[in-house]
Amino acid sequence: MTSKDTAPNAQAPKKARCPMKRGKKFGICAAIVIVMGGAGIGFWHWHETPGFCAAICHNMDPYLDTYLQDQNAPGIDKYGNAVSDTSAMLSTRHRLTHTTAKPEIRCMDCHHPVIAQQMQELTEQISGNYQLPQTEPNAHQLVEWEKAEPTQFCSNENCHSYLMGADGLVNRANLEKVTVNRKFNPHSQHHPGLEIQCTDCHKGHRASVLVCTGCHEHENVELPKGWVTKAEGDKILANAKANPYVQLSNR
Ligand code: HEC
Ligand code: HEC
Ligand code: HEC
Repeated sequence: MTSKDTAPNAQAPKKARCPMKRGKKFGICAAIVIVMGGAGIGFWHWHETPGFCAAICHNMDPYLDTYLQDQNAPGIDKYGNAVSDTSAMLSTRHRLTHTTAKPEIRCMDCHHPVIAQQMQELTEQISGNYQLPQTEPNAHQLVEWEKAEPTQFCSNENCHSYLMGADGLVNRANLEKVTVNRKFNPHSQHHPGLEIQCTDCHKGHRASVLVCTGCHEHENVELPKGWVTKAEGDKILANAKANPYVQLSNR
């Protein structure tokens, strides 16, 4: 992967890793944070960029790495697994939208971390008390800090607002319409009892999973580029649980 050099914010400083032992590491990382805090507006601007997350927090590396890859090309997921088409990962797919309205989607366009959450992440980073990659959050967990509804992670006044009904939440009929041309419509409401969340299928940093194939495999359901079946998705998770510290292939 070579696209790091083309990171959206070229002036973002190089990764400031803290390779020392815990005690020293705390002091030095804290000092970095204080110095940067003092830099004020410049810091706040940098804080908005994708490079920031990984420069401060090593635990963001797998997420930055998946995000920065070339679009519509073979790549890797947050666990280091091969992904046949990176467009199957929401973060990569959205990075460059090729529209003038919002040409580039950054980490914080999707993740709206509240201060308390960022403090917790920083504490975990400083103490070294974290696992790479982190336990995968579902849509509900992705928005719980900001107390939003799960579907608002994808659809709100800024993103995919065409899916919203009058109540400001995703309207199932609108959602069904966006994929109506697919032979097997993944958004069709045949099984309201199943309560499938957006993130059961749409993954940010690994190949998305067509969970319907858990039962409908025999129907030769066509997978979008790079997507995997329920069985393949389960295997990816099982391997990740067995080897929680899988290193990315380029490290
Ligand atoms: C298009 C939306 C999108 C973008 C852009 C995006 N993510 Fe994500 N992210 C997701 C989704 C969806 C998940 C949950 C599923 C998964 O992990 O694959 C997630 C999960 C995560 C998690 C797991 C734990 C947690 O606290 O939620 C981290 C950390 C994370 N992303 C960091 C990042 C970083 C850093 C960037 C930018 C380099 C980024 N993301 C860009 C959608 C996005
Ligand atoms: C059963 C799996 C599944 C679930 C659950 C699911 N989706 Fe999808 N979604 C898909 C597939 C498959 C596509 C087509 C992807 C492609 O063409 O690359 C898609 C495409 C989309 C698109 C893009 C449509 C376009 O304009 O091309 C949006 C937006 C979307 N989904 C939003 C959502 C939201 C919001 C939810 C939750 C309320 C959701 N999806 C739940 C499978 C799912
Ligand atoms: C737990 C197993 C299971 C899952 C998961 C599942 N289905 Fe089904 N589905 C069935 C069964 C069984 C039938 C046939 C019985 C019926 O029509 O109610 C069916 C029927 C259907 C039909 C009607 C098919 C036809 O030939 O008329 C559609 C459409 C459908 N499912 C879509 C979906 C979609 C979209 C998903 C994913 C969001 C999904 N299913 C997930 C078990 C499942």
